[in-house]
Amino acid sequence: MSKTRIRVGMVGGGGTAFMGTVHRIALRFDDRYELVAGALGSNPDKSRADAATLGIAPDRAYGSWQEMMEKEAARADRMDAVIVVTPNFLHFPVAEAALKAGFHVICEKPMTTTLDEARALAALVEMSGKGFFLTHTYTGYPMIRQAREMVAAGEIGTLRRVEAEYLQDWLAEPVEKTGAEGAVWRTDPAKAGAGAIGDIGTHAYNLAAFITGEEPTHLLAELSSFVSGRKVDDDAMILLRYGSGAKGAILASQVLTGNGNNLSLRVYGDKGGLEWWQERPEELWFTRLGAPRQLLRRNGAGSTAAAIDGSRVPAAHPEGYLEAFANIYRDAADAMDNPALTVPVPSVVDGVRGLAFISACLASSGQGASWVPIEN
Ligand SMILES: NC(=O)c1ccc[n+]([C@@H]2O[C@H](COP(=O)([O-])OP(=O)(O)OC[C@H]3O[C@@H](n4cnc5c(N)ncnc54)[C@H](O)[C@@H]3O)[C@@H](O)[C@H]2O)c1
Repeated sequence: MSKTRIRVGMVGGGGTAFMGTVHRIALRFDDRYELVAGALGSNPDKSRADAATLGIAPDRAYGSWQEMMEKEAARADRMDAVIVVTPNFLHFPVAEAALKAGFHVICEKPMTTTLDEARALAALVEMSGKGFFLTHTYTGYPMIRQAREMVAAGEIGTLRRVEAEYLQDWLAEPVEKTGAEGAVWRTDPAKAGAGAIGDIGTHAYNLAAFITGEEPTHLLAELSSFVSGRKVDDDAMILLRYGSGAKGAILASQVLTGNGNNLSLRVYGDKGGLEWWQERPEELWFTRLGAPRQLLRRNGAGSTAAAIDGSRVPAAHPEGYLEAFANIYRDAADAMDNPALTVPVPSVVDGVRGLAFISACLASSGQGASWVPIEN
């Protein structure tokens, strides 16, 4: 493995932006990256000033992402990869420009705002030969990776049902009207593409596939906008059908009072079941048919290889969100160093699936909540 640090440039993530901060922490965990360039906001002066506070050299603190692509591409010590942490509508043009200029891409979800863009990006990744990593955070948790390995090893038998819930309450009121950071663009269809189904539903949908290894073929969705005047969905109830005969359900909502970041997942087969809750991420409940319900702990007895590999400290020394994110960065670095390597990080293909999910949800709900095919 090369120990050369991967030089990255960040687009978005200036000031108090949520995800930019998380990505910068995650990329530093294993010392595999160096943040060398940035176009951190839409205002050129602020973008450069924010870059200075992060120690980015003045000649690499850019006023726009277009300037960053052009000037970095011309440097001998050019960046290797671009991190995209902007509102959704910019993911496609930024990632497209980055791939065309020969940079790897680490991109936030949902990958794009339309299915056509997602497909175009997948074709471009294929053509470019560059790495593309989609940061579905929850796939980085050791106990999620353990659940995936247990399902693949047949521990729960043939899949019967998967249930994923992602519930929040921070959009329970029309906070976008007060200009609340993050809420304005998330409730603008042109900038977000969709509401709760894109913002958090795609995480639940991705996680269900990540763990089960199965992709549903059809869905039925009832989307609502409970907050008056809101132009995107803020609540979604979705049923899934799989080709194997398995069934699934996804609940995603940002208006359910009392829920902070309440993501949970339950997977049931004919031989057993698994349960995981994001707010207690070190625990995975496993029940083998006919046996007592069992609590498995991160890096504890019964850990699988992926859970051990994803753990940084011994069992009972709590790890969480940032370590999970850092696992995604570590694995992406491995794949950039060695493109032949398969890593458990969502790819551009998963990004297309996410947009196919959003598109099918909108179609189904628009037809009065009828069953529709999911067209990846
Ligand atoms: N993986 C996760 O768990 C997770 C969690 C939250 C958000 N997200 C995703 O991360 C992305 C960012 O979300 P956020 O919550 O950080 O949003 P945010 O509003 O906090 O930050 C967005 C940033 O993009 C910048 N920006 C806007 N226009 C720009 C432009 N033209 N050029 C450069 N920068 C520009 C803003 O200045 C800001 O710094 C979204 O796609 C969101 O869906 C992912």
